[in-house]
Amino acid sequence: MSKNEKISNSVIRRLPRYYRFLGELLNEGITKISSRELAERMSVTASQIRQDLNCFGGFGQQGYGYNVSELRGEIGAILGVNEDHAAILIGAGNLGRALAVHLDYGRYGCRLCGIFDSNENLKGEILGGVKVSPMSELESFCIKNKPIIAMLCIPKDAAPEICEKLTELGVKAFWNFSHYDIPQKNLPGVTVENVHLGDSLMYLCYGINDKRASDEKPEN
Ligand code: NAI
Repeated sequence: MSKNEKISNSVIRRLPRYYRFLGELLNEGITKISSRELAERMSVTASQIRQDLNCFGGFGQQGYGYNVSELRGEIGAILGVNEDHAAILIGAGNLGRALAVHLDYGRYGCRLCGIFDSNENLKGEILGGVKVSPMSELESFCIKNKPIIAMLCIPKDAAPEICEKLTELGVKAFWNFSHYDIPQKNLPGVTVENVHLGDSLMYLCYGINDKRASDEKPEN
């Protein structure tokens, strides 16, 4: 795929799921798969899979299907899982420590290299193999280690200022769990992923209500 080709966001959003399913196939010893079989496993249509993968020139061969390892490798390269992006975490409270301890960053092309918190009592604690440092050390750390990604697990009110400071210090991507929506348009060249678990839960609840309404609908 040429670097200049623009792939739609909705396709990119689906790639991690392809990558995950293909990894599971490899773990099961499956080395090739048709779009129909992959579609069944992933509960999507075969034409969706063919369309998505055609965006990258198509990895399949007519009558043979996809080479699982090759396809996973190509998708992984597009997603950047072989990179070594230095990442820092700001906020080592409940959410921050869960992210520090439970995510295998290397699998996603990232490396957690620093954790910072304004609570001096947390100084020196080790989370996920990384020491918690005070905010007073943030600037010198960033100048030395040049983190590209910042994960924000801090209160909403604290986020705008920290976001601005980190951008000045060269951070290029925010995985933002604070409830302040970082406005991507104000930050050219910076990638933002505002994550709200509550949004996902509301979508789930909508699904319950919607299903209930259709179950209650009298049949004609
Ligand atoms: P917490 O209170 O356990 O942890 C927050 C941590 O941030 C504390 O350790 C605190 O010392 C630190 N902190 C506060 N101000 C700071 C600053 N200016 N600089 C550096 N560190 C600072 O809270 P929890 O449960 O870990 O949640 C973190 C934030 O994420 C909260 O604001 C919460 O509302 C939000 N949240 C977001 C979710 C989402 O889906 N996006 C889900 C759950 C919580």
